[in-house]
Amino acid sequence: MNVLVGVAGGVAAYKAAELVRALQNRGVDVQVAMTRSAEEFIRPLTFAALTGHQVFTSLWKPSAEATSGEAGPFSIEHIAVAQQIDALVIAPATANTIARLAHGLADDFLTTLALATTAPILLAPAMNVNMWNHPATQANLRTLESRGVQIVPTGSGYLACGMTGGGRLADPEVIAEAVLQRLLKTKDLTNEHILITAGGTREPIDPVRFLGNRSSGKMGHALAEEAAARGAAVTLVTASTLAAPAGCTVVRVETARQMMHAVLDHLPATTIIIGAAAVADFRVAEVAGSKIRRNGPLTLELEPTEDIIARVVAGRSANTLVVAFAAETDSPEQNGRAKLLRKGADAIVINDVSLPGLGFDSDSNAGIFLTPTVSVPLPESSKRLMAARILDQTVALRTCSLEPVL
Ligand code: PMT
Repeated sequence: MNVLVGVAGGVAAYKAAELVRALQNRGVDVQVAMTRSAEEFIRPLTFAALTGHQVFTSLWKPSAEATSGEAGPFSIEHIAVAQQIDALVIAPATANTIARLAHGLADDFLTTLALATTAPILLAPAMNVNMWNHPATQANLRTLESRGVQIVPTGSGYLACGMTGGGRLADPEVIAEAVLQRLLKTKDLTNEHILITAGGTREPIDPVRFLGNRSSGKMGHALAEEAAARGAAVTLVTASTLAAPAGCTVVRVETARQMMHAVLDHLPATTIIIGAAAVADFRVAEVAGSKIRRNGPLTLELEPTEDIIARVVAGRSANTLVVAFAAETDSPEQNGRAKLLRKGADAIVINDVSLPGLGFDSDSNAGIFLTPTVSVPLPESSKRLMAARILDQTVALRTCSLEPVL
């Protein structure tokens, strides 16, 4: 395993040396890249001696390894390194480096590599408590988290600036363990074919109008991105117009009936199905062939749509896990449990969509992962992080290692 430790310019930069050792003790081959400011706190020579590799400090000074390597002196080093590494961990990640990453800036070796790599990225922030609490820093962290970057929680206590509070670099052993865990689960879904539904279906009323709902598709697309990043073969059946996540087979649908056909077509090859879509429960019984004119009151007759999850449960093989979602506004756990049992799914993710800023069309979500015997809280987070937690619980369900809480 090959991990690149990125060191940014903060007092805690010296602790990156301990992180390098902690990773090496776990059998990881470590390389280091430093920002210009980091060199003010610790010399590259320290890391070169610890790792046995030349340290990357500049886009413009190729390391000796690059100039003597197979790719020759003209290889684009940050791209070559970006493709070789299994993970990038930046510790300490300063407020400035976090801001540059959140905005996609690529003005030195480390930030350019962070943009160029598809390997998992972890950040271990360290800064003054006021910089840590600043809304800009917190917003930047949320942006990065929503793109799948893992934030190693900071500690709280006495800081080098003399103040006390949050923003202290996590213990190097804790950071190394987080990196290792991330590496271990990076490809934990390689043997799964996961089918995910996303978005809100639209049921036509006439050629210009439809019955719809407030689902954006963000939750389902986040699940697809996370599952693909963890090695699953992913089919995303989506009623959303969001861009196709990388590495997924995407089937675009509009109505509940189209979604049902797409899901049933792919069911034989599916090992896990996750129903994050908000599927219409009713469709207009007779869709008008031309635009309905406003000539007084209008009565529409609605008929129920097919229950896709129920059909999946009825038609699946014994090996296929079914995880449904439930968007609830009152007594979420009670209603979600009833829905889980009625649909016969293996688990259900309950969202309380009455909470402001969560659920429909937002970037954050929270909920409960519920099986007939286990209830696991999913704390408020970006949808990408919630997707990771849902997949963790689904893997635990597959391996029967879920801990009963209720
Ligand atoms: O898309 P976002 O803006 O990111 O919002 C995410 C979300 C809030 C839509 C999502 O997290 C969520 O909760 N999805 C389920 C919403 C819903 O409509 O739940 P439901 O209680 O109506 O349906 C329960 C389950 O049955 C769901 O898995 C649903 O996909 C499925 N269903 C529903 C109706 C139907 N005819 N067929 C189905 O398969």
